[in-house]
Amino acid sequence: MKSIQTTSYEIHFKDLAYKSLDTYLKKEKFSKIFLLVDENTHKHCLPHFLGQIQYDGVIEIIEIKSGEIHKTIESCMGVWRTLSELSADRKSLLINLGGGVVTDLGGFVASTFKRGIKFINVPTTLLAMVDASVGGKTGVDLDLSKNQIGTITFADMVLIDTRFLDTLPNNELRSGFAEMLKHGLIQDQKYWKQLRQLKQLTLNDLDELIHHSVAIKNKVVSKDPNEMGLRKILNFGHTLGHAIESYCLDNEDIITLLHGEAIAIGMILEGYLSSKISGLPITDLKEIKETFKATYPNVSFSDSSKKQIIELMQSDKKNSYGQVKFVLLESIGQCQIDVEVENAIIYEAFDFYSK
Ligand code: GLY
Repeated sequence: MKSIQTTSYEIHFKDLAYKSLDTYLKKEKFSKIFLLVDENTHKHCLPHFLGQIQYDGVIEIIEIKSGEIHKTIESCMGVWRTLSELSADRKSLLINLGGGVVTDLGGFVASTFKRGIKFINVPTTLLAMVDASVGGKTGVDLDLSKNQIGTITFADMVLIDTRFLDTLPNNELRSGFAEMLKHGLIQDQKYWKQLRQLKQLTLNDLDELIHHSVAIKNKVVSKDPNEMGLRKILNFGHTLGHAIESYCLDNEDIITLLHGEAIAIGMILEGYLSSKISGLPITDLKEIKETFKATYPNVSFSDSSKKQIIELMQSDKKNSYGQVKFVLLESIGQCQIDVEVENAIIYEAFDFYSK
């Protein structure tokens, strides 16, 4: 599968990924190589990864705890300390092998350690393959606010091997698939139609589809790496989605949602806002609701939970001058950015979701 060239690094797929990594490691002559994993990728992904590369020097393994609740500055402190204790220097490399928590946190640790060391992302979940590992966003959560602390720093290379998905639970696949559906909604109507017609996700289909999603994301990020304008479209569904995800993480009386599951709800809600404000046709809105409702968990929101979600949304890092800004759809494949929405319409959107 053809590599994707971004403005500053390459994204390689499958076997070519490991060949490219070996060539790169030979060429760069790093002082030390570190590999960040969580307990799941340590067990399920590390043996495959090490079995694929020829490099026979020392690789120091650093493990963090898995899960969004550990995407914190405290986990970073542990990794920074270990790097220091193991004498990492500015010519050291960090390879992040894991899902979005590992690639975001590892990227942040690398981008700040000794003012920045090189890092490589090897995503092992669908979500990290199509979104988190690509595009330079690194960071951690601050209490309930997602990705509140971070940098935009590009990896030196991203390696995508879909064989890691063999052992990925279904809900994790579904979570990543939501970001792929988002790519269709914001940029490519034909791709949206292709994805919604899939009866089942097979690994064979996924290779091509992941490549297409990464290409869409890369096209957007290349034009606007620092999210001054166009890149904001990648946040469709995320303004409400992130608030829902945080709310569910913090409340035991409601199911915990994976990122993509929360974003799927966010896309129905923001689809409704789009139909009210930016001209999204009702038929498209119905199609969006039907598609996400067919695959993603249905959550019932009490009046008090809606209120708290709206409050959480007000602390989103995408806000400026105290204003919550939405990305809305004009049609499938076309977006508007920086749209302000009255709370009354957001409450209506929750009613539309529940009906
Ligand atoms: N996940 C959205 C972005 O990378 O901009």
